[in-house]
Amino acid sequence: MSKQKKQGTNLLYQLIAEARSYPDTIILGRGDPDFDTPPHIVAAAKEAMVQNHGEFTPPEGIAPLREAIANRVKRINNIDVDPATEIVVTNGGQEALFLMVLAVLAKGDEMVVPEPNYNTYHDSMKFAGAVKVSVPTSADNDFYIDPAEVRKVITPKTRALLLVSPNNPTAGVISEPEMKEMIKIAEEHDLMILADDIYDLFVYDDFKHVSPASLPGGKERSLTLNALSKAYAMTGWRLGWIVGPADLMARVKELKAAVSGGTSIISQYAGLAALTGPEEPVQMMADTYKRRRRVVLDALDEMGIKYGVPQGGQFVFADISFTGMDSAELAQKILSEQHVLVYPGSAFDKSRAQYIRMTFLQPEEKLREGLEKMKETMSKLQVSR
Ligand SMILES: Cc1ncc(COP(=O)(O)O)c(C=O)c1O
Repeated sequence: MSKQKKQGTNLLYQLIAEARSYPDTIILGRGDPDFDTPPHIVAAAKEAMVQNHGEFTPPEGIAPLREAIANRVKRINNIDVDPATEIVVTNGGQEALFLMVLAVLAKGDEMVVPEPNYNTYHDSMKFAGAVKVSVPTSADNDFYIDPAEVRKVITPKTRALLLVSPNNPTAGVISEPEMKEMIKIAEEHDLMILADDIYDLFVYDDFKHVSPASLPGGKERSLTLNALSKAYAMTGWRLGWIVGPADLMARVKELKAAVSGGTSIISQYAGLAALTGPEEPVQMMADTYKRRRRVVLDALDEMGIKYGVPQGGQFVFADISFTGMDSAELAQKILSEQHVLVYPGSAFDKSRAQYIRMTFLQPEEKLREGLEKMKETMSKLQVSR
């Protein structure tokens, strides 16, 4: 297959491989935090090893961690859950989303997916034989998900609605009134809600994160995932969870047992330390992303690139259609000329070839250097405005 023909995750892997071949590459699209995992979490993992915690855990996770998760989702998300029956600990957000999809969707079932969205949902749906029904969103109105558009695509086969807020890659946040409307739609058509709260601690300006399970009518029809990867800079530790109604969580637990059994016990003890320890490191990271967001948006403004204002998350999805280039082509050009990697929108959804994703996950100095280099390529383009 030629370079330009690759799509989705394969396209990204190809670009990342090329980026790694240059010693001076700056990755402006990366998805993993650049911070170290806070030291008290690392210390807890070491201690678990010293204590010889090599045993297998129940598929749903160790009891103290489930208690800590129940406290966390109550405190931050206002969701009430019973730690005995309504929580399953997972190998990061990735396994959580796979289990949610398989627990709810069977062959031929449809799920409404506002797009662009996080690719792995679609990949997981393929394993379930489920059908994605897209609701497009656009940078023109900051990737607003219009409930009327959601209503329009529902059919007798629709089984679920995916709500990722803040969303990746659009950085859009679903407001409380909109979330209430989504629950109303789910009630009217007896749909499940798959909620992804992984960026819940990262919201900007006056935007607020709202979990559908915290609203009237939401809890009984929502499975909600979260993970420590983003908030605690623990991407490689692989720790996440799903919370939801006990009957569905029993199914999630069976699936978890079949897919991977218990999650690594060392990571579970680390997660316990994260959720019960000091919050300052999380706050420091959130404040830093806030400052870097400004740096990236100012640079995009200077380059004349339009974007949906990031309301949350750790990235911005920017519209490069004025260049007349496809996002894969432009990402390739910036990478070859400047050794700077931005992620092409077509890697997230093939109909989003006019967007690039840029993240706030580099130290400010590196971010500025990467943006300056990107400006050089952009300034040389013959563009139509
Ligand atoms: C929206 C969303 N959900 C889930 C995940 C997977 O999370 P994890 O890295 O914990 O597997 C990601 C990762 O980028 C994400 O952006």
